[in-house]
Amino acid sequence: MLVPLTRVLSQAQRHKYAVGAFNINNMEILQAVVRAAHKLHSPVIIQTSEGALAYAGIDYLHTLVLTATRQTTIPIVLHLDHGRDISIIRSCIKKGYTSVMIDGSHEPFQKNVALTKKVVRLAHQNNVSVEGELGTIGGAEDLVSARTIIYTDPEAAHEFVERTGVDALAVALGTSHGAYKFTNHARLDIKRLQAIQHNVHVPLVLHGASRVPPTLITQATTYGAHFEHPEGVPDAQIRAAIKNGICKINTDTDVRLAFTAAIREVMAKKPSAFDPRDFLKPARELMQKIVEQRIQLFGSAHKQ
Ligand code: G3H
Ligand code: 13P
Ligand code: ZN
Repeated sequence: MLVPLTRVLSQAQRHKYAVGAFNINNMEILQAVVRAAHKLHSPVIIQTSEGALAYAGIDYLHTLVLTATRQTTIPIVLHLDHGRDISIIRSCIKKGYTSVMIDGSHEPFQKNVALTKKVVRLAHQNNVSVEGELGTIGGAEDLVSARTIIYTDPEAAHEFVERTGVDALAVALGTSHGAYKFTNHARLDIKRLQAIQHNVHVPLVLHGASRVPPTLITQATTYGAHFEHPEGVPDAQIRAAIKNGICKINTDTDVRLAFTAAIREVMAKKPSAFDPRDFLKPARELMQKIVEQRIQLFGSAHKQ
């Protein structure tokens, strides 16, 4: 069943757990995420970035997600991740997404407020939830990037939520997107999160939260990959974040690492394989395992 973001996050906020938001780009990633959530009786947020929509097309991704909802009774949110282009946000709302993110974090405060307010008005008229962002999360993805991290200011966070009416707020606490986080080996700024939680009553969102599991890095490098000092967010910091108000946790990199590590292994071990299913089946299984670990860590298992 497709449900609004507000529905799953209000439960999470009340009972102090977080709901995983996983990026999908194709059928195998979606199946891995939904199978994991279904097995663990967990609500789940399926999100597509603007890059994912450019890659696969909104019709394909939306239809795949609708198909998934017919095969399970768990609550599923279909969310636009890092929406920046108003025309894409409009298309998602029109198509039936139950949540959109407006990422105005690269704009000055007043402009971010105005932009976010406009999206809230549009989305709420259609019963669609809105996630806003204040502060910037580092890293360089396909269409989502910021060179430096600007930490979220707790006072500004209060004003931002009051003036925009967002349903959830993404906050910058030091993480980056991708497999290289925490420049200068900084850690999640939990004190700042506590101050934000004190000022803001909507559920808070953590981006750039992947663990970058050493087992996946070893698997990938054993079969030819090369990474320069990969680093993720340790599980203990995720637990501390949930304890202090984080209710939605985004994960893309870990699933990407699982997908490609499994494929690298098959390529190396079976050089004569050429049926795509020989590569995609182990990839899907490994992605599912990683998503199950995330759901267990977030505490959303059996919260359907
Ligand atoms: O936050 C960024 C997500 O990992 C999506 O990345 O723009 O490369 O699809 P992408
Ligand atoms: P990771 O790159 O840490 O998986 O973060 C993904 C994300 O924040 C998507 O919005
Ligand atoms: Zn993000």
